[in-house]
Amino acid sequence: MKIYADTANIEEIKNIAAMGLLDGVTTNPSLVAKEKGEFKEIMANICEAVNGPVHAEPVSLEAGPMEKESRELAEIHKNIVVKIPMIPTGLAVCKKLSQDDIPVNITLVFNATQALLCAKTGAAYVTPFLGRLDDISNIGVEMLSDIIQIYENYAFETEILAASLRHPVHVLEAALAGADIATIPAKVFHQLFKHPLTDRGIEAFLSDWEKAKK
Ligand code: E4P
Repeated sequence: MKIYADTANIEEIKNIAAMGLLDGVTTNPSLVAKEKGEFKEIMANICEAVNGPVHAEPVSLEAGPMEKESRELAEIHKNIVVKIPMIPTGLAVCKKLSQDDIPVNITLVFNATQALLCAKTGAAYVTPFLGRLDDISNIGVEMLSDIIQIYENYAFETEILAASLRHPVHVLEAALAGADIATIPAKVFHQLFKHPLTDRGIEAFLSDWEKAKK
């Protein structure tokens, strides 16, 4: 399973990249809005910091402006993936961009039939949101498993990018279900390292070592 950072914060991204664990980055307008600076410059800086796909989302919803904005984003860097919402105009734009070899991620996917349509339009990635479904008492991982089953049935090549992962158990669920990619906020990424027995074990080893030296 590839691991992406779900953030537009350059320091968080550099920090995770320095550990050698970063396969890519996802952003969305809400994440970019938290950062200082101009949108395209933020995305260009992220592309320089990451050796992998960087997902950037246009904000236009009409087909023409969405396509124009998407093509401009794709010109920022060869690693840009355009992230387009799951709406009819989005899928039409996805088809056109995909035919021109611009990779597209269809985002805001909340059920498996939406994901079926994404694969049929030639999307390179589909982004099901687990956490936001859990928020409304649906079971996000069940949707993810359904999508994986459907994509296996028809050998679709669209990569499944599990998103809206809010805690380590969401990462576990994504990995057990077989998501291609999990995109993880920096806080959750750091939580993945932690186990009290690891910390206690290190303390005991070092303390035994010190005692033996005396
Ligand atoms: C990433 O692609 C999504 O935009 C993000 O994971 C959404 O997360 P949230 O539901 O916690 O805002």
